[in-house]
Amino acid sequence: MTLIVRALVPTKVTLLGEHTVVYGEPAIVIALDKRLIIEMRRRNDNVITIRSSGLTIPNIEYILTPDSYPQVRVDSAIVSRFFSYIIQALSIVEEELSVRRKGVDILVESSLPPGVGLGTSAAISVGTIAAYSFLQGHVLEPREIARLGHRVELSVQGAASPMDTSATTFGGMLYIEPSRDIVEKLPITDIHIVVGYVPKKFTTAELVRQVRNLRNRYGELINPIIKVAGSIVKNARKALEKRSLEKLGELMNIFHGILEALGVVETEVARIVHVLRLAGALGAKMSGAGGGGAFVALARSKKDAETLRNVIKSLGASVVDAGIANEGLRIEQVGI
Ligand code: MEV
Repeated sequence: MTLIVRALVPTKVTLLGEHTVVYGEPAIVIALDKRLIIEMRRRNDNVITIRSSGLTIPNIEYILTPDSYPQVRVDSAIVSRFFSYIIQALSIVEEELSVRRKGVDILVESSLPPGVGLGTSAAISVGTIAAYSFLQGHVLEPREIARLGHRVELSVQGAASPMDTSATTFGGMLYIEPSRDIVEKLPITDIHIVVGYVPKKFTTAELVRQVRNLRNRYGELINPIIKVAGSIVKNARKALEKRSLEKLGELMNIFHGILEALGVVETEVARIVHVLRLAGALGAKMSGAGGGGAFVALARSKKDAETLRNVIKSLGASVVDAGIANEGLRIEQVGI
């Protein structure tokens, strides 16, 4: 029988702290029970194949000419980036564990599109690290998987915080503060969040670079803004712990203003966020790297959350039908 390993990895939504977390400030992130699956099947040679199902692939072209084999052209930065995370994760496992390449057929299944700010690249990195190291005979601790997943994101994106790889490895709601090496699980599961997305126009790496350029040009203005962002997140943590939802919502709105100042909020998301507030959200903001992509709203009740989901659909955006994933990454061995 062939050895088959499956890593089931949650995706995530950033409640507060995107971008400023890259400069060491705190963030609050929630793992979502919309799991991405990385399945690896051992081969008898040292060939690696990668297949995906469920991921939307934009700009795919199939060329059929009478005198050659059919060719498929994929003209998309998002798709090549998606493969880069897997390839980089395989090399990092081989380097860290000092092991040789083993042939595997890799299948990636996701019902969320890549690159909209919901942690699919972190989930791919973490899942590949966990499944491939398992196939190599090593069962890594979650802390080690998160650390290596972060290394993957750093090498593919150039800059990345440990936020997304921590959320997708550990699950739950996390308070993270990279400058003090803090990753804490917050024991909160009873808030009503609503998540949606529109297509994203830029990659995370481009948006992180854009903020860095702004900071380089206006350091004396942007550095204090980044510090204020950190204070907003610390206040939000206190509000969450006291279940002061009105306050948490207000802090989300203020944080959205910070992201506007950093230049990463795209028009369509800005409009949706404002409509959600008018429709009764306690707070609403863009989420993730921006440039389109994801947004998150806080609802007062389950019923209000349903109303907000309907508003999102009526605006032509997609709703992520998921709750908090209390359990993080899970590994299953299917064959032997
Ligand atoms: C991307 O999901 C969040 C950013 O803060 C980048 C990062 O933390 O690595 C924009």
